[in-house]
Amino acid sequence: MIKQTIFGTTKDGKEVKEYTVENANGMSFSAIEFGAVIRKVFTKDKNGEIADVVLGFDSVQDYENDDTYLGAVVGRYANRIGNATFTLNGVEYKLDKNDNGNTLHGGIDGYDKRVWASESFADEKGEGVKFMLVSEDGDQSYPGKLEIAVKYTLTNDNELILEYTGMSDKDTICNLTNHSYFNLAGHDSGDVLNQLIWLNSDFITEADEQSITTGKLIDVKGTPMDFTTETAIGDRIDADYYQIKFGAGYDHNWVIKGYEKGKMNFIATLRDKASGRKMEVYTDLPGVQVYSGNFLKARIPGKNQAKYTRRTGVCFETQYYPDSINKPEFPSPILKAGEEYKTTTIYKFIV
Ligand code: GAL
Repeated sequence: MIKQTIFGTTKDGKEVKEYTVENANGMSFSAIEFGAVIRKVFTKDKNGEIADVVLGFDSVQDYENDDTYLGAVVGRYANRIGNATFTLNGVEYKLDKNDNGNTLHGGIDGYDKRVWASESFADEKGEGVKFMLVSEDGDQSYPGKLEIAVKYTLTNDNELILEYTGMSDKDTICNLTNHSYFNLAGHDSGDVLNQLIWLNSDFITEADEQSITTGKLIDVKGTPMDFTTETAIGDRIDADYYQIKFGAGYDHNWVIKGYEKGKMNFIATLRDKASGRKMEVYTDLPGVQVYSGNFLKARIPGKNQAKYTRRTGVCFETQYYPDSINKPEFPSPILKAGEEYKTTTIYKFIV
C-alpha cells in the first residue's frame, strides 16, 4: 500500500512530497523528495510492538538546517576527497572544502539538500518510490551531466531495497550512499551502545587524523575494529587505539570480503537484544562506512521532539572507499561517459 502526502515546502517555495509504503506484514517506510531522505522505518519487535528505527525530522526546515545527513542520499561523491582535489583524464578538479580542507559528501550543496523528482511504483518485488535527480555538468565542480535515480522497494520479506542507477555524458566520479541512522530500539530510545554489530570484513582502510584514507589496509584482528564476531558497539568504542581516536569512535570504512563488481554480499548485521530486532545489510559495493553517530548533538529536535544526542544512531554507508579517486590501489569510483552506474544495497529487518 502506498500513500502520498505533502510533507512541506522548502524555503524557496518548492513543495516536498512524502511517500509511505506498507507491506503485508505491517512494516512500513516513509521517504521524502528532499534529499531522497528515508524519514521513517517502522518494524515489529519480538512481541509484535512497532517502533520507528531510523532518526529523522518532522519538517522540511529541519532537514534544510541539518548538517548530519539524517536519512539522506549523499553525492555526487559520498565520504571524503582529500584536499578537495582530484584529477581525471589529466584535468584537475577543485571541489568545496566543507570538512577541514577536504570535501565531505559531495560538497556544500550536496544531493541531500536537493528536491528530487519522484514517482511511486509496484512491481514483482514489492512497492516503493523512485527518486530522480539531474546534476548538471559542473555541479559542485564535478565534470559531466549526471542523471541519477534511487529506487526504494519494500518487499513482503521485510527488505528495504535501495537501487541506484545513473549515467553521465562525460567521464566523472560517482559514489552514492544512503546516510540513515539506525537505532533498533527506536529512534527516541537513547544511545545504540548496547546494540551488536557483525561485519563480514577482515580489514579497514586506515584513516589519518582527518579521516582521509592513507592507502593502507589494517587487519582488524586484535584491534577494536574487529567485528568478525558479533560485538556490542559500546564495548570498545572509546578504546585507546589511534584509529578510534581519529574517528572519535567508529567512523571508518570496512573492506567487504568477497567484493566483485556486480555481486551481492551479505556484509553486516545490527541487533538489539532487548527488542529482538535485527537488521541484515547486503550490498554489491566494496566498502561500508560504519559511523556510530559520534558527532550527533541534538542541535535540532528530532521526530516527536526526540533528542538525538551523541551515538543515538549508527549508519551503514555502503560505498566506494573514501578518497578512492586519489588512491589508484582502491576499487575505482570512475564512471565513464555513457556507462551505467548501478548498485544495490538492502536493509532487511527480522526478529
Ligand atoms: C559520516 C562521516 C562522519 C560525519 C558524518 C556526518 O558519513 O563519516 O565523519 O561527517 O557523516 O556528520
